[in-house]
Amino acid sequence: MYKKIVVLTGAGISQESGLKTFRGSDGLWEGHRIEEVASPVGFENDPLMVWDFYNQRRRQLLCDEVDYNNAHKSLAEFEKNFCGDFLLVTQNVDDLHERSGSQNVLHMHGELLKARCLDTSRVYDWTEDLGEKTSHPDFPEKVGRLRPHIVWFGEMPLHMDKISQALKQCDLFISIGTSAQVYPAAGFVSMTSRSCHRVELNLEDTPSSMIFDETHRGLATEVVSNYFKDLLS
Ligand code: APR
Repeated sequence: MYKKIVVLTGAGISQESGLKTFRGSDGLWEGHRIEEVASPVGFENDPLMVWDFYNQRRRQLLCDEVDYNNAHKSLAEFEKNFCGDFLLVTQNVDDLHERSGSQNVLHMHGELLKARCLDTSRVYDWTEDLGEKTSHPDFPEKVGRLRPHIVWFGEMPLHMDKISQALKQCDLFISIGTSAQVYPAAGFVSMTSRSCHRVELNLEDTPSSMIFDETHRGLATEVVSNYFKDLLS
């Protein structure tokens, strides 16, 4: 039985919850070029558009139609019943893992339901729209100084020390619903030890598929549930 497990998730796990993946067939994220809405330069060039883009994503996440799915739930249930170390690293900025009951979750690309002060970098829980008129929670006279707490291209992903350490020590690494196109997450599989068993659960092949010991293709709600059910039995 495995003792230390690291799971990496990407947009594919939330696709069946109604959230679009990043790299759709049109190469756009909800109609925008990724660099336009996910880079510091994009924000500098057009803050109103970027604020509005994430406002829409946040509203969508909080609407009644979006909720966790079977794949999120399977991970949470597995974690509850597993006796060893379990770390869930997600590239997703939604909160569907937490909603489904996952406990030990690291959001390496930030969180949609948090805002960050442009001056102090302090992070605040946030469920409202952000914009040029948004008052600062600590200094109400200060406006428009909060940005989405999202790691954009060119910025340092979060929690990397903890993640690197867990990757080196784990004996099972499972990658779920990620296209393996964005580093450092795309390189996590290669940071695990030689004795680690590496599993990829995804709809289709990725540039990293060859590195994995085991791959399962299909919808996350099916392959993730099946894989984790078998792992506990
Ligand atoms: N079940 C399983 N896999 C799926 C499903 C599904 N229902 N739907 C899509 N997929 C797969 C796709 O085949 C693809 O390989 O999920 C992957 C999603 O890939 P991306 O859209 O590139 O998402 P991700 O890998 O999470 O992107 C990484 O890129 O733009 C940045 O910061 C952003 O965190 C994001 C990072």
